[in-house]
Amino acid sequence: MSRLLIVHHTPSPALHALLDSARSGATDPAVGPVEVVVKAALTATASDVLEADGYLLGTPANLGSMAGALKHFFDTIYYPCLEDTVGRPWSMYVHGNDDTAGAIRDVERIVTGLRWAKVQPILTVTGSPTRADLEAAWELGAATAAFAAGELT
Ligand SMILES: Cc1cc2nc3c(=O)[nH]c(=O)nc-3n(C[C@H](O)[C@H](O)[C@H](O)COP(=O)(O)O)c2cc1C
Repeated sequence: MSRLLIVHHTPSPALHALLDSARSGATDPAVGPVEVVVKAALTATASDVLEADGYLLGTPANLGSMAGALKHFFDTIYYPCLEDTVGRPWSMYVHGNDDTAGAIRDVERIVTGLRWAKVQPILTVTGSPTRADLEAAWELGAATAAFAAGELT
């Protein structure tokens, strides 16, 4: 069965709500046959990445970049996964107070190096997530899982 790997750093209720919604969308039965594996960024390994068919990343914006935990994830998996994950689908949600541009820029730069394929616009949420934000996270999870399953191309 195809597998979607959700790699997240979740230090607050706002990020937890976004993760919950994204996971709920990804695991919706209508998406099709896809296993969803959820890993905190500080625990995800290169094996997790190699064994998945697509990736959904979730991070806060911290100090003008992604969370250090997600950077640690990339530091860990970059070279072990560089040749074997080319073209796999990915997407991301980012939560911040006011400026998520640096986090998006820095993740995009790394993922460009990995040559993963962005399959959804990056979801940016500031402040307390609204119902619309949570619905967007649900859709992001569902769509990324469908790409991982090969149901969307
Ligand atoms: C050390 C630190 C740095 C942060 N830097 C940024 C930043 O550069 N841009 C931004 O939009 N939010 C920034 N934030 C806010 C976090 O993104 C926010 O706290 C996180 O997404 C959790 O949201 P919440 O505090 O509303 O629960 C920062 C927070 C901390 C603790």
